[in-house]
Amino acid sequence: MAKIIAAAIGIALVAPAAVAAQEASGEAGQTVSVWEGVFTEAQARRGREIYPGPCGSCHGRALDGAPDDPDMLPTPPLARAKFLRDWDGIALSALFAYTRTTMPENNPGFLADEEYVDIIAYMLSVGGLPAGADELEPDPPSLARVVIRQQPR
Ligand code: HEC
Repeated sequence: MAKIIAAAIGIALVAPAAVAAQEASGEAGQTVSVWEGVFTEAQARRGREIYPGPCGSCHGRALDGAPDDPDMLPTPPLARAKFLRDWDGIALSALFAYTRTTMPENNPGFLADEEYVDIIAYMLSVGGLPAGADELEPDPPSLARVVIRQQPR
């Protein structure tokens, strides 16, 4: 028993330091925030073209979770304050992985990887995040360097 408690305390003491080190390396320039222009306008426009059929039926044309299809139940919003709050601190690689493996909920994996990142660019643009010079690539390691933040900072 004492051994287990000691192990647990050991973890408790080590974990925050590891997290702090990660955050610090992030601040040193290895990660960027979604507020730093991580997709292009053209990419967000492509996402807007793709979104309505496969996603809008459940998540709504306004991306607010009110389904376009009256037979569908309400869903979580995919943009703006609530979405950014729920995903705050999470890398785009996790959003990409979640989306391509579980969405559309009635047909997961239906789209190409390029189409999933284009839709993510569209979701970010609807939330008021600025476009930049480079497209988001459908590449997990590069998406892992882009972190969702609720606020610019
Ligand atoms: C058939 C309905 C349906 C369709 C179509 C659909 N979704 Fe979803 N989506 C859901 C439901 C229901 C949830 C909530 C799942 C849960 O909480 O377990 C969800 C959750 C999500 C989430 C997580 C939101 C959050 O903050 O929790 C994302 C991101 C998402 N969907 C993206 C998409 C994208 C992108 C598409 C189109 C490629 C899509 N969905 C199509 C029903 C759908």
